[in-house]
Amino acid sequence: MSIQQENIKKLVDRRAAAKLGGGQKRIDAQHAKGKLTARERIALLLDENSFEEYDMFVHHRCANFGMEKEHFDGDGVVTGMGTINGRLVYVCAQDFTVSGGSLSKTMSEKMCKVMDLAARNGAPLISLNDSGGARIQEGVDALAGYGEIFERNILYSGVVPQISGIFGPCAGGAVYSPALTDFTVMVKNTSYMFLTGPAVVKSVLGEEVSQEELGGASVHASKSGVAHFAAENEQEGIDIIKELLSFIPQNNMEEAPRVATDDPVCRADDSLNEIIPDNPNQAYDMYKVIASIADDGKFFEIHKNFAKNIIVGFAHLNGRSVGIVANQPKVLAGVLDINASRKGARFVRFCDAFNIPIVSLVDVPGFLPGTQQEYGAVITNGAKLLYAYGEATVPKVTVELRKSYGGSYIVMSSKHLRSDIVYAWPSAEIAVMGADGAVNVLYAKEMKAIEDPVEKAKLRAEKKAEYEELFSNPYQAAEKGYIDDVIEPRNTRFRVIRALEALAGKKQSIPAKKHDNLPL
Ligand code: HXC
Repeated sequence: MSIQQENIKKLVDRRAAAKLGGGQKRIDAQHAKGKLTARERIALLLDENSFEEYDMFVHHRCANFGMEKEHFDGDGVVTGMGTINGRLVYVCAQDFTVSGGSLSKTMSEKMCKVMDLAARNGAPLISLNDSGGARIQEGVDALAGYGEIFERNILYSGVVPQISGIFGPCAGGAVYSPALTDFTVMVKNTSYMFLTGPAVVKSVLGEEVSQEELGGASVHASKSGVAHFAAENEQEGIDIIKELLSFIPQNNMEEAPRVATDDPVCRADDSLNEIIPDNPNQAYDMYKVIASIADDGKFFEIHKNFAKNIIVGFAHLNGRSVGIVANQPKVLAGVLDINASRKGARFVRFCDAFNIPIVSLVDVPGFLPGTQQEYGAVITNGAKLLYAYGEATVPKVTVELRKSYGGSYIVMSSKHLRSDIVYAWPSAEIAVMGADGAVNVLYAKEMKAIEDPVEKAKLRAEKKAEYEELFSNPYQAAEKGYIDDVIEPRNTRFRVIRALEALAGKKQSIPAKKHDNLPL
């Protein structure tokens, strides 16, 4: 064997050893927990043979607690680049088989390197987390490593899309990297996120709680909203990441890919002419409206199980990616509350940062009243949604379907917040409040003065009819130009698409500033 051949053999052997991470025993242990290894996850995520790995031979530099004898090529994270459906992405996948994927300073350097590359080259960053947290033997170096990752999450926020997959433990301060990224996908039963685990919760608060109850996928996808998706298993988690990417651009200077569609632009849907119930207190399903207007009826929902009174997600309209925000009359009558406002605001800001037009479907009776909401700062949280819509400069098309009352009318992408085109169905009611509430306020004295209940009811019905005649329709708003047109529901798809096509070249800006002061 020539020296050159010997050198090549050494390389091949070292690569093979590096690919085993912490060794076969630990790989088997990982599989026994129902989890894949970092490399197996990358193989599922990326196009075949597209992965190019960096820093495969990096070692940690720790010499405490016997770590000088514990070396694995590549340390506890696999990093590099590849493609998903032919589009470039950068990837970090923590390798639990090496010191439990715990973060060393050199691991952080590997991760920061691909984060910088992703930002410089304008490609999404995907981080797959599976780690015991800061590498305890490294002390403050490990903390410094986290800090440097967080700093890049922050600097590159709004520059390239950042997606976190939580495929194992993610605890302590480590949770803040996913929290800083755009989307978090968790896997049921094998992943968890919390600041302090069940043992600490028990000792500090005396509360008994399991890992799954405290920070499992279902909890974060429904109660806290920390996770946008709760996948049944790792394969589904990976599929979600891939599908999500298909709706979003590579970076903030590009547009999302346009896809071919056979769904006719002018496809009318008569069922929408029948969908609004006669009784204004009766609900209907907003998902039916979304399916009716989206290409092929397909909707990719974000935060499906969190704050279900508002629906957010992506669809294609004539092949263009759009963000849809819609009130859901079936849940809490579609009212806006703290969580709905947070959910909507975060989504609107993502769409605006990444040049994705926003279509809003409005049927909102107002903000949820009560001490719980007020003490939880519904004012500040509601302002987030207002702020997000008001600052967004992407094309904004709004359809007022039915109720659109008070502050929530303004918030939900009204003309007054620079919405480009606002349509209303003939069933729209744009008013300060519903007829019942209005009559109670306006005629309180008169009602009090009447003792006969029949007479009282008569006056109430009379005044209600008067108010409804004036406000429970879209025409007062249309007469003032706050609505661009009143449209037949069956034509909604066509009208929204035509508006979006006209808005494709939209240019709008906000006053120059260092940064805004969004009501956090
Ligand atoms: C060093 C670690 C480690 C860590 C796990 N390991 N966590 N090594 N630092 N933080 C090692 C274990 O020693 C073991 O090594 C291997 O990883 C697998 O761990 P196991 O315990 O055998 O696995 P499992 O039973 O699945 O339990 C996983 C675990 C547990 C729940 C994550 O390991 C654990 O509780 N680890 C400590 C978690 C923690 O307290 N981290 C610090 C949080 S504070 P061998 O050699 O046997 O394979 C923090 C601050 C961040 O992260 C602040 C950022 C701002």
